[in-house]
Amino acid sequence: MSRKLFIKTFGCQMNEYDSSRMADLLKDTHGFVATDDPNEADMVMLNTCSVRDKAQHKVYSQLGRWSSLKAANPTLIIAVGGCVASQEGEQILKRVPQVDIVFGPQTLHRLPEMLDQCIDQKKPKVDISFPEIEKFDCLPSARVEGPKAYVSIMEGCSKYCSFCVVPYTRGTEFSRPFDDVITEVVELAEQGVREVTLLGQNVNGYRGMLHDGGVMEFSKLLYYVASVDGIDRVRYTTSHPIEVTDDLVTAHSAIPELVAHLHLPVQSGSDRILKNMKRGYTSSEYAGWIDKFKGVYPNLSVSSDFIVGFPGETEEDFRETMNLIDYVRYDQSFSFIYSQRPGTPAAELEDNVDMQEKKNRLMTLQNRINEFAAEYSENMVGTSQRLLVEGHARKSPHQLTGRTENNRVVNFDGPSSLIGRFIDVMITEALPNSLRGRLDPANIRHAN
Ligand code: SAM
Ligand code: F3S
Repeated sequence: MSRKLFIKTFGCQMNEYDSSRMADLLKDTHGFVATDDPNEADMVMLNTCSVRDKAQHKVYSQLGRWSSLKAANPTLIIAVGGCVASQEGEQILKRVPQVDIVFGPQTLHRLPEMLDQCIDQKKPKVDISFPEIEKFDCLPSARVEGPKAYVSIMEGCSKYCSFCVVPYTRGTEFSRPFDDVITEVVELAEQGVREVTLLGQNVNGYRGMLHDGGVMEFSKLLYYVASVDGIDRVRYTTSHPIEVTDDLVTAHSAIPELVAHLHLPVQSGSDRILKNMKRGYTSSEYAGWIDKFKGVYPNLSVSSDFIVGFPGETEEDFRETMNLIDYVRYDQSFSFIYSQRPGTPAAELEDNVDMQEKKNRLMTLQNRINEFAAEYSENMVGTSQRLLVEGHARKSPHQLTGRTENNRVVNFDGPSSLIGRFIDVMITEALPNSLRGRLDPANIRHAN
């Protein structure tokens, strides 16, 4: 009987991606199959993130719960990976001796070897290093979700924003060689993938090695990815404002596979706060880039990350953030209350904005962006939108579901034969979290 693996993931898309990569790896090397139930698992693994919240606390309480599973099943293997593992290292074994394996985001490829050593030597294993030489070979391969796939093109971050732990926990930026990226996209297209999302902390900082020793920049990479046969939609996330170039804007006007949607994290609209965050741009420089993208797509949908309550953020600073929001008319946000991260430069600053005030600012910001989002959705009613049909609708399985360029879910009646294809659908109704659409039967002929 095959052994079972339970993985619990905290955090972002990058972490979800790493988790699926680990599951694939342990399936190949040890025949582990995934389970949703930790009680029946032979190995439980926690993939952690320490960007926000009381990450350490969450990790230790989860490990406490798993320690009792080990009391009932002494051969259970407990592994901890990701950013918290990278920060805590040996400390985890001291606090929770039941843990068997501790590995960092850059050593996940060594997991099978660590598992063997741990079983053979009956000793816990810790490896949270950043092995330079192996880096290029070990970037996770694609995660496929029906006709869509995520392709990791770079890892780590070298921007050192004053509030952020990522450069310390995931290491500095490195890009995957160009040939590897393209080979992977071609292989995905051959399996029927129609949309790829290029993933990384700062994808537009991509500088991939070429086999002749040259370097490929992100804007150029986009042309090659989009030209792969079968790939008809290309997205990327996350991009950084200081790495936006005119070449990138031009790529958007020249490449039809790129979508009218941009995720460009700004964090704050106040120049004083942006400076203290060490973001490297001003609010008006940021708005200038958005204007250029809007020049390419008049209906551009923009999303962003925001932090409210950064140390010293005054009402005036927050007002400037709201002014920028009104100017850009964001369609979506990933917005957070500032959370002090040990070891970051901002942790030296007094975390002096009152918690209730932080919550109020977050609510004000989110409410405003939700209003813009509702307006966008309303404006889509009566328009024809191109969808990539992903499968059956979650709530009503007799319907199909797809996504628009600006990432909205549209549910509509249609034949299953459309799954995995692009189709134009008339939007008939805007709901809070999705849209309804109607398929013109004449259109089915044009699905591709
Ligand atoms: N590369 C992206 C960029 O250009 O900014 C950000 C990646 S970061 C892992 C994801 C988001 O987490 C950030 O954009 C920021 O909004 C949020 N974040 C990071 N550190 C944080 C902290 N200490 N407190 C609150 N939010 C934080
Ligand atoms: Fe973090 Fe700034 Fe990099 S938010 S991931 S240090 S761009």
